[in-house]
Amino acid sequence: NNPPWPAFRGYHTYSFAYATMGHRLPTILSKAIDDVVETLNQESEEERVTDLIECISRMDKLKEDLQSQARLRPIIDDGEADVALWNKEIAKYFQGKDFMNAPWLFAEAYKYRRLRECFSVSKYWQHYDVFFRQKCDTFSRSGDAVFELSTRFLEPFKHKEGLSDAEKLEAERLMFMELTQICLWGNSTDLSLLINMTEEQIKSLQSTGGEHLAATEKNILGNDMARLWETMKNLKTNTGGRIDFVLDNAGFELYCDCVYADFLIQSGLAKEVRFHGKRYPWFVSDVTKKDWNWLLNSMVYGHLFPKATDEEMESLRRLGLRWKQYEKEGKWIYEQHPFWCTGYTYWDLHSEAPDLFLHLSRSDLVIFKGDLNHRKLTYDCAAPPSTEFEIAIGPMASAAGAPRICSLRTIKSDVVVGLGSDGDVLAEKLDTEEAGWKISGKYAVVLLSEGRPG
Ligand code: F6P
Ligand code: MG
Repeated sequence: NNPPWPAFRGYHTYSFAYATMGHRLPTILSKAIDDVVETLNQESEEERVTDLIECISRMDKLKEDLQSQARLRPIIDDGEADVALWNKEIAKYFQGKDFMNAPWLFAEAYKYRRLRECFSVSKYWQHYDVFFRQKCDTFSRSGDAVFELSTRFLEPFKHKEGLSDAEKLEAERLMFMELTQICLWGNSTDLSLLINMTEEQIKSLQSTGGEHLAATEKNILGNDMARLWETMKNLKTNTGGRIDFVLDNAGFELYCDCVYADFLIQSGLAKEVRFHGKRYPWFVSDVTKKDWNWLLNSMVYGHLFPKATDEEMESLRRLGLRWKQYEKEGKWIYEQHPFWCTGYTYWDLHSEAPDLFLHLSRSDLVIFKGDLNHRKLTYDCAAPPSTEFEIAIGPMASAAGAPRICSLRTIKSDVVVGLGSDGDVLAEKLDTEEAGWKISGKYAVVLLSEGRPG
């Protein structure tokens, strides 16, 4: 049940795995330790202080393990719902492996699970999020793009007077195409790659204007957006479908996802949207329930943008109120299945989390956001770029009950598929002309798999 291509591993010096395992992850851990030290310096209760110092010692040990090629040990039973899944996978496949010679995807996920353990076994700091400050801070520095969207999409979507049915449909199609791109490029701001971003860098990544989007569409190297629209249109005819988002990053990306989901509800394309987040801090900026609540409540009550006008603040507040209302009415539902925080790829989703597979199979469309989800869908292996998406995702396309899937991903790592029959040539050309094209987030894919009825 594995693909025929080798999975990337940390010791593959030609891949981004090498830089990630050897350099990026230790840097991320050092920054995480700095964050905990900042918290420690503001803590007054002795028991809480000493408890937190033990968390820091465990983080130091993890950093040492990471850098000294220590073997991957089982996860301590800290009561998390995923412990059994983790230890089963370690025992079955990764006995004796270390961070560099285990598959990159697994080793990287394992690091975040061990980081979780540093806190989950503590007495007072079980729910501490070492990335929370960073996530909030980046969103509060994203004001320009945030208000551009909130002022534009505040008024619910409605058609101009006197349009024919065909014109209405075309207006919806255009809006759908634009918002799909906004949702896609919202993925550029993941914090694991953009440590210490300047205000200018954030701005350039978040331009959302129409002209900009027309220019960026040519950077979508595998583009099934037209087919995606056909699918959505048919859902509307059937009184609106259920759409699932397997979320990626908190803050601005989540905000873009919600703008998109809002349009899907208002236009009648969807009647229910389910958002799938992580149970604990994951790959630096992934969404947890706390991030979700923080976003909605900051929009309604927050004072994050001191330079904003009253009108801008009001637009954000009203948008946030609408989204909270969707939650109350059950039109938006937030979920957090333990499987999303494991080291398994989605080739194993149907066998390792059959309840989740069944749940997703009832959806009309499951949108997977971002690079990590894409790596997990494709087994993070060296498949040729011309490989069809349906083939690259294995059982997620071919198993009975596989849902319809769309991957919205800006390319930030080695695996690239779905570029069409000329894809290998195109990738080779980019390899020679534009070093780093696979990790810059400048390019993207929007790939669709129809799934298989159960
Ligand atoms: O590939 C580089 C990387 O930083 C990985 O750590 C991770 O898969 C991914 O990018 C994070 O990006 P995203 O938030 O889009 O999943
Ligand atoms: Mg992420």
